[in-house]
Amino acid sequence: MFRISQYMAEIASPTPLGPKRNPPGPVVIWNLIRRCNLTCKHCYSISADKDFPGELTTDEIYGVMDDLKAFRVPVLILSGGEPLLRPDIFDIAKRAKAKGFYVGLSSNGTLIDDANIDRIAECNFDYVGVSLDGIKETHDRFRRMDGAFEASLAGIRRCRDLGLKIGVRFTMTQDNAHDLPGLLKLVEDEGIDRFYFSHLNYAGRGNKNRKDDARHQLTRWAMDLLFDTCWEYQQRGLAKEFTTGNNDADGVYFLHWVQRRFPERAAHVEAKLRQWGGNSSGVNVANIDNLGNVHPDTMWWHHTLGNVRQRPFSQIWPDVSDPLMAGLKQHPRAVKGRCGECRYLEICNGNTRVRAQQLTGDPWAEDPGCYLADDEIGVVSSGERLTVTPYTRINRSA
Ligand SMILES: C[S@@+](CC[C@H](N)C(=O)[O-])C[C@H]1O[C@@H](n2cnc3c(N)ncnc32)[C@H](O)[C@@H]1O
Ligand code: SF4
Repeated sequence: MFRISQYMAEIASPTPLGPKRNPPGPVVIWNLIRRCNLTCKHCYSISADKDFPGELTTDEIYGVMDDLKAFRVPVLILSGGEPLLRPDIFDIAKRAKAKGFYVGLSSNGTLIDDANIDRIAECNFDYVGVSLDGIKETHDRFRRMDGAFEASLAGIRRCRDLGLKIGVRFTMTQDNAHDLPGLLKLVEDEGIDRFYFSHLNYAGRGNKNRKDDARHQLTRWAMDLLFDTCWEYQQRGLAKEFTTGNNDADGVYFLHWVQRRFPERAAHVEAKLRQWGGNSSGVNVANIDNLGNVHPDTMWWHHTLGNVRQRPFSQIWPDVSDPLMAGLKQHPRAVKGRCGECRYLEICNGNTRVRAQQLTGDPWAEDPGCYLADDEIGVVSSGERLTVTPYTRINRSA
């Protein structure tokens, strides 16, 4: 996750570099249930409105939670499927809060209504994130349910009105990019605290529908718009958080933006970005799915490291006998192609390994989602060597 607003603030008020602080344990995104009332086109969990047998019981979840606490996990993001479809969701959330976790709820928002809003508020979530993948019909088409936009927006307003910290999450593809300006306006008009921009990742239905991925020019346009908007909001004193996910090249693109707009701050921002260190799947981000399988992050459901029913998370996570985990934890990562040659590898850490793996079979190949040009990353010429687009397999010429 790249925190745009945090690095943007370094332009107006630079802070000392200081030593790098590593979090005590990974942030755990926990898909507590796979069932969902929606069937979105891009869904990595391939959720649907049916039961998925074998999910962790309440008691099992409490046992895992105790282990996560002892392992010094600081943050739990309760996700799904649609987490509000779990009858015990409020008990789980309250117990997690009582144990001292920072607890986020990741919801599609359509089920936040007058009947449950007080129970949601009682949980005292540190953050509620609701997905909006466009305005009105765009969102409804993407999420494949008529009326989903109005229902999600109503859910957002209910949370906001009770003082919960609320964010909008947007996954951009070619189908919904045109609504990005409208969504940014909505964030301002509705008094929403955070905007999370997610690049499409190649997992689940998002892998099947990767042809809808935004082309690189569109991604660059979106990033410029996000940076300009975030800067403008900060100038106006609007305290809004802007973050991005699933493409750590955003940090490098941001550095280029700073070099153009505020060259006098570029060296400072670059030092801060190097300290951030880019992609942290398998290191500072972890995933537990509805069946208790542990993955390096939410996009790696096709690669399981172990199951919490057989072995505690605290033992699975540090175990580097799995080659993927060993590679993800290696620093710097042994990435190939233009990622390996990139001058800014230390900033983005080789980006999103699952996209490389889905397109080439090799998790250490260059990430085809990198939208910077060769001359922007100090790669002299990839010329004939590689042909990379999100739509073709990587061809290596002799
Ligand atoms: C799987 S959903 C679960 C929570 C809830 N049902 C929702 O839709 O917000 C969590 C987040 O992952 C995003 N997501 C799902 N598949 C994705 C993909 N292939 N690439 C990027 N983001 C994805 C969703 O848009 C949503 O914001
Ligand atoms: S992205 Fe969320 S709302 Fe959409 S199908 Fe997946 S779990 Fe459900």
